[in-house]
Amino acid sequence: MATTKGTKAPEDAYTAEPFVPERGGLTALREAAAECRGCPLHQDATQTVFGNGDTDARVLLVGEQPGDQEDRQGKPFVGPAGRLLDRALAEAGIDPGQTYVTNAVKHFKFTRSGPGKRRIHKAPSLREMTACGPWLAAEMALVEPELIVVLGATAGKALLGSSFRVTKQRGMVLEEEIHGRPARLVATIHPSAALRADDREAVYQGLVSDLKVAARALG
Ligand code: URA
Ligand code: SF4
Repeated sequence: MATTKGTKAPEDAYTAEPFVPERGGLTALREAAAECRGCPLHQDATQTVFGNGDTDARVLLVGEQPGDQEDRQGKPFVGPAGRLLDRALAEAGIDPGQTYVTNAVKHFKFTRSGPGKRRIHKAPSLREMTACGPWLAAEMALVEPELIVVLGATAGKALLGSSFRVTKQRGMVLEEEIHGRPARLVATIHPSAALRADDREAVYQGLVSDLKVAARALG
């Protein structure tokens, strides 16, 4: 007898893997990612926010997940955090136009709260980050960056594992193996931390100083 009992996929089966095309460039990846149902985050978000930028870039930047503006516009780092990031990059000597920018998770996760039921960012779970990992792996294989800039704890955990601590590992060149390939990385805080901090200027200067380490590593 047909039954739906037991057919629900276990939660740890969340993965983007079956949606990732085997070949094709950025356009093919972006089109496929638009259809991703690899975890439940696609259900409430407006659209997939895939990475964007120069696929020949020497540097690939990884944030957490799209924010409200990014979810509406379909591009990463177009809101306040993105403007601050561009300013910090330029100040550190990295041309924001010569980077590839993406997020560990490609759909906006939020709760609604307050009188206008504003959408408030909610941190993605480890399971969601892991589910979305195949997209990040595909982007890394496409861009083959000389350096990866890790923006904040979520991106750090997605790339380097759950023991990653931004306070301990920021501002230095890390040599790691990621998805079976050697990679050089520089971690720093998430730019939105500099928007929220009491001492914004000091936090911003810390971001710039870490990005200068990245700029020097690029030579
Ligand atoms: N924060 C992120 O981590 N990514 C974005 O794209 C925007 C804000
Ligand atoms: Fe797919 Fe990632 Fe969106 Fe989940 S968050 S549905 S894995 S693109």
